[in-house]
Amino acid sequence: MTTTPVCKKTIRNVDVDGKRVLVRVDFNVPQDESGRVTDDTRIRAALPTIEYLRQHGARVILTSHLGRPKGKVVDKLRLDPVADRLSALLGQPVRKLSDAIGPEVREAVLAMRPGDVLLLENLRFYPEEEANDSTFARQLASLADLYVNDAFGTAHRAHASTEGVAHYMPAVAGLLMAKEIEFLGQALGSPRRPFVAILGGAKVSDKIAVIDNLLPKVDRLLIGGGMANTFFLAKGYDVGDSLVEVEKVDVARDLLARGGDKLVLPSDVVIADAFSAEATAQVVAAEQVPAKWRIMDIGPDTVRRYSQALQGAHTVVWNGPMGVFEFEPFAAGTIGLAHAVADLPDATTIVGGGDSAAAVEAAGVAARITHISTGGGASLEFLEGKVLPGVAILQDCE
Ligand code: 3PG
Repeated sequence: MTTTPVCKKTIRNVDVDGKRVLVRVDFNVPQDESGRVTDDTRIRAALPTIEYLRQHGARVILTSHLGRPKGKVVDKLRLDPVADRLSALLGQPVRKLSDAIGPEVREAVLAMRPGDVLLLENLRFYPEEEANDSTFARQLASLADLYVNDAFGTAHRAHASTEGVAHYMPAVAGLLMAKEIEFLGQALGSPRRPFVAILGGAKVSDKIAVIDNLLPKVDRLLIGGGMANTFFLAKGYDVGDSLVEVEKVDVARDLLARGGDKLVLPSDVVIADAFSAEATAQVVAAEQVPAKWRIMDIGPDTVRRYSQALQGAHTVVWNGPMGVFEFEPFAAGTIGLAHAVADLPDATTIVGGGDSAAAVEAAGVAARITHISTGGGASLEFLEGKVLPGVAILQDCE
C-alpha cells in the first residue's frame, strides 16, 4: 500500500531577502535544576534554517514554547538559557525578549537589521497560545512578512503559533521540518522494500494506532518492550508481575490475527525479581516467565532473530526501546538492536524521537542512523497516519 508523500514549500522556494521572518522552532529542551540546557539536540537541529535565513538577508524572529506553564508566567521556564545556548552555537548574540507580543516586541522587531536573530518569550505563558486564539495569532503574524514552521516536534498541536498564525501570512516549512516530513513521509508513502518496523516502549495502548497504520505497509513488524507483554497475555502466556494492560488484551489478539507472520514477538526475555537495576536477572523463554518475576528486556535469541529479520531491509522505522534500557543490566536488547539497525549496509533507517533517540545515542550509533526525528508525540502521530495541523497549514509544493 502506498500513499503520496507530503510535499511542502520551504524557505528555499521563497524570497527571504530583507524580510522579517517569524520562525516557530521547538526549543522545548531538557534543563537541570539550575536551568542549564542538558540536551541541545533540538537547538542544533534548527541551526540550518536559522543560518540559511541569516545568510539570505532575513531578520529572524524565533518563537517557541518550553514546558507546560499552562498560560502563566513561570520564571524557570523563561527562554533565557536557550538564548544563551543558541548564541554560543551561532557565534552571534541572540537578543531575548521578555514578551512574545506587545510594544517591547514591536519596537525590537522594527530595530532589527538583516541577519539579526531575536528570540521571543515562552509562548505558553499566554493562555491564547494553546487555545489557538485568533487575535493572538494575528498579533504574532503582524510581527513579520513570512511564517516558517521548523517545529516538527510541536506540529501535532493546533496552537496559535503552529497553526493559527499561518492563516494570516504566507507559511512555508523550515529545513528541519522539510527533512522530517521527507524521511517519515517517504517511509510511509513509498518505502524502498523490504520495509521493517520495530516498535517498543512500555504500553501497547500508545502504539495501537501506529501498528494499525503500519501493518498494511510493512513487510515485517518486530515487537519489543513492555508492550510485548500484553501480546504474550493474548497468546495465553503467563507474564508474572510484568507490566500489562489487561484491558488491551482483546486489541492485541486482534492485531496478532491481522498481522499473521508479519507481526513478530520476542522468543525469549530477560526477567528480574524486582524493578531495579540491582535485581537478580535471568533469561527465559517468553512463555516461561515464573510467577513474581517481571519482563525487563528482550533476550539474546530475540536480538539474534530480529537482527536476522533486518538483514536485507532497505527501510527501517524504529520507535520505542526493547526494554528498560536506563538500567544497564536490561539494556542489551535495545543496544543490540541499535547496532543491528546501524550496521545495515543499504537501508534508510529512521528512529523516532524521545526514548528511541536516547537509545541510539547510548549505543553510540546515532551518527550511523539516516534520520533521528526530533519529534516524540509528533513522530508517533505521523506514523499513525494522522494529518499534523502544523504541517497541513503550510503551502504545498507547486
Ligand atoms: C515535545 O517535546 O514533544 C514537543 O515539544 C511538544 O510538547 P508538548 O507535548 O508539551 O505539546
